[in-house]
Amino acid sequence: MRIIKESDRLQTLVDRLLAPHRRPQIVGDVNIHEVFERVRSLIMAEFPQGLTIRRDYDLSLPEFRGDKEQLIQAVLNIAHNAAQALASRMVAGDAELIFRSRIARSITLAKVRYRLALDLHIIDNGPGIPAELKDRIFYPLVSGRDGGSGLGLTLAQTFIQQHSGVIECDSRPGCTDFRILIGLP
Ligand SMILES: Nc1ncnc2c1ncn2[C@@H]1O[C@H](COP(=O)(O)OP(=O)(O)O)[C@@H](O)[C@H]1O
Ligand SMILES: [Mg+2]
Repeated sequence: MRIIKESDRLQTLVDRLLAPHRRPQIVGDVNIHEVFERVRSLIMAEFPQGLTIRRDYDLSLPEFRGDKEQLIQAVLNIAHNAAQALASRMVAGDAELIFRSRIARSITLAKVRYRLALDLHIIDNGPGIPAELKDRIFYPLVSGRDGGSGLGLTLAQTFIQQHSGVIECDSRPGCTDFRILIGLP
């Protein structure tokens, strides 16, 4: 009971913190590879040494209606965490991120069935998500880093949910895979 109240309170706090970002969506035709490419150049600018970002795109993916800036922010938050987790591999020079895009078929997201969905992956070869955080990383204010806000993944999830999507995560040492599924109409 106590815990539920606490987390309600946190959610309210976060809703308030994020309110400025919840501007009305600016919806247009989005090419998801332009989103990936923008995030790639932002990450490469911040982490110029020892990091390879590999693209594995299905270029036949259709454009879809969405808010490009929100999608960039969501993918950037995920990729930025991955790059931070790769710090020691960057020193060794073998840090790797993979941006992958695919089509998924017959997917159920939030109880709605989609014939087609975008199936996106952001994969890193870092140490993996600490076991004690694994079940909570999408919760507000959960951070494994000194000075971390713990809001990056919360915000990413909010933005993806606004696009009839979900984020899933599968992580073990050497391979952390964040998957974004977005239902297509
Ligand atoms: N790719 C990743 N590899 C390892 N840990 C990760 C990864 N992505 C997220 N995490 C963990 O999840 C935590 C929460 O991330 P986030 O919500 O962005 O908050 P913040 O980055 O401010 O800590 C991070 O602090 C980190 O401990
Ligand atoms: Mg973060």
